[in-house]
Amino acid sequence: MKWNTILPISMCVLFGLIQCQAPESTQTTASSPAPGSAVSVDRGEYILMTSGCNDCHTPKKMTPQGPVPDMDQFLAGYPAGRPMPEIDASLVAPGQWVLFTQDLLAAVGPWGISYAANLTSHETGIGTWTYDNFKVAMTEGKHKGMENGRPILPPMPWQEMKRLTDDDLRSLFAYLKSVPPIDNVVPDPVPPTAL
Ligand code: HEC
Repeated sequence: MKWNTILPISMCVLFGLIQCQAPESTQTTASSPAPGSAVSVDRGEYILMTSGCNDCHTPKKMTPQGPVPDMDQFLAGYPAGRPMPEIDASLVAPGQWVLFTQDLLAAVGPWGISYAANLTSHETGIGTWTYDNFKVAMTEGKHKGMENGRPILPPMPWQEMKRLTDDDLRSLFAYLKSVPPIDNVVPDPVPPTAL
């Protein structure tokens, strides 16, 4: 052991452990633990940023490092009016492939075409939703969180996300309500028969 590692340890012994504990703020920065389990916007941001929501819901922009989320269109979903690339329907027959646009905002599979929803606080996103709407969407897979809504299509992984606790869902919802509004009416899904 080198002298410079021995010195702090012996100083601890000398002055007692309390003086040697790192201040709280230093510990937090060092290990970046999840914010506590209570409901908070910060916790919602933490969950959103670590759960891949951006991958599917945020348009991308090209950089020298490849595509990255375009934070000017954070969570805006598939842009209204943007034409889709041509689709070879035989590729997505059952047992074949699932296709994604290269920014992951639209997906084609045996369910047809689905377009990532606008999750911003605009009325074309979740702006008019109640927490109950959000909970029904995320835990029962119902479009717009309406009990009689159509099923939410793949690849939205609500079947996994329904395991989030009520505090986590409330935190996510509080964070989404704080996301800047973007006016974007995402196209309706296309059924497989219309491909
Ligand atoms: C793998 C891609 C993918 C990921 C990851 C993903 N989503 Fe989605 N999500 C979608 C797609 C596509 C839709 C639209 C499905 C449809 O139209 O039925 C959708 C729909 C939704 C809806 C329903 C919107 C509505 O109008 O009914 C909510 C709410 C939602 N996503 C929230 C989230 C949140 C929050 C996360 C992260 C915790 C997330 N999604 C992660 C692809 C994804």
